[in-house]
Amino acid sequence: MNNPHPNLWYPYAQMKHLDFVPKAVKTLGSEITLDNSEVLIDGVASWWTACHGYNHPDIINAMSKQLNDMPHIMFGGFTHNPAEQLATNLKTMLPSIYNHYFFVDSGSVAVEVSMKMAIQYWVNKNRPNKRKFLSFKNGYHGDTLGAMSICDPEEGMHTLFKKYVPEQLNIDIPLNDIKKENFKNVIKNNKEDLAAIIIEPLVQCAGGFKFHDDNVLKFISNIAKENNILFIVDEIATGFGRTGTMFAFEKSKIEPDIVCLGKALTGGAISLACTVSTDAIYEAFLTDKDEDALMHGPTYMSNPLACAAANASIELFKTEPRLLQVRNIERALVSGLVDCKDFNSVVDVRVKGALGVIQVKKMNKLNWLRKRFVEEGVWIRPFLNVIYLMPSFTISEKNLNKLIITLIKIIPEWEYECKK
Ligand SMILES: Cc1ncc(COP(=O)(O)O)c(C=O)c1O
Repeated sequence: MNNPHPNLWYPYAQMKHLDFVPKAVKTLGSEITLDNSEVLIDGVASWWTACHGYNHPDIINAMSKQLNDMPHIMFGGFTHNPAEQLATNLKTMLPSIYNHYFFVDSGSVAVEVSMKMAIQYWVNKNRPNKRKFLSFKNGYHGDTLGAMSICDPEEGMHTLFKKYVPEQLNIDIPLNDIKKENFKNVIKNNKEDLAAIIIEPLVQCAGGFKFHDDNVLKFISNIAKENNILFIVDEIATGFGRTGTMFAFEKSKIEPDIVCLGKALTGGAISLACTVSTDAIYEAFLTDKDEDALMHGPTYMSNPLACAAANASIELFKTEPRLLQVRNIERALVSGLVDCKDFNSVVDVRVKGALGVIQVKKMNKLNWLRKRFVEEGVWIRPFLNVIYLMPSFTISEKNLNKLIITLIKIIPEWEYECKK
């Protein structure tokens, strides 16, 4: 055992065999400095959050000012400018039907709130039996219990908890005619019980970066609407430009009832997430009965410091050419990663926006691979059967090339190591 600190418990890690945890001391742009002064080029933008690069001065300044004025105040009973400003700012980014913003502390909680919103919507509409959810294979929506119930139930991380979470419907994304027919049948047989369908639009991220296109999303949305089932899009990973448009669902011109935002909402500076609803959802909670109010309120909800960071981040999307940068990254990934298709272990290479994925047959020697990347001066963190790049949108051409070149160098070395 080589735990870097005897009192710390690290995520998704078998602590008995934890043997390699680099210590970060500083970040800037797309670079992470370690305690031994080595610098890593970041290929994953801190779990896909740091879209403007680390320590963007506009975000740091906004947070410093807010820190002096009021780092936190409870939102139960108070309002404040950073949250009000953020609701106004987000409204300018989303289609005009999205007028209601519930700020929470993490993506998983935003998903929990979306589920509670959907269930309570139907309770308030006198349809209390509509409390089940339909989600999709390879989906991931967070680690809290409600969110886990709508993740892929066979996926390693959550299989253990199968019997402890509510049973939901989980089926294949309807990518072809047979699956479309199956999807329609499942809906037909369950529509009286279904509160909502939830999906990660265009890319299922933590389930292995599986792509589907905007027509599939539109098909699912149409069926949901036709059958009086709410439609929730979880944009926590895809939102804020990652797939090439500001929000992934925009491409299919659909109008989901609820949208979950998180991760890049604060530009990666601090945790904040949001459950966004249409007027129609919100209005179902407007009655003369207190018990019809939305029953949720985390202690740190709408934290002013986090809202200040998010306001600065949104401003950056307006003043700096983020979507253009995403297109440039996409081009570089398409041309740079194409050679990886020739490696024996690689079964697929795919790119969408500022996301490049190399899918391998089998992920052996994962720790060896992660360590080898660090030795080469890059932070790339493969998992399941994917090695992927999801850098900040501001990454320099030189640093992006270094990430790509390192992949091309290390994958054959790793294949050789796996054969030993
Ligand atoms: C699509 C999606 N939803 C929800 C979550 C959970 O967010 P958080 O880790 O902030 O709780 C994640 C995290 O990776 C995610 O990718």
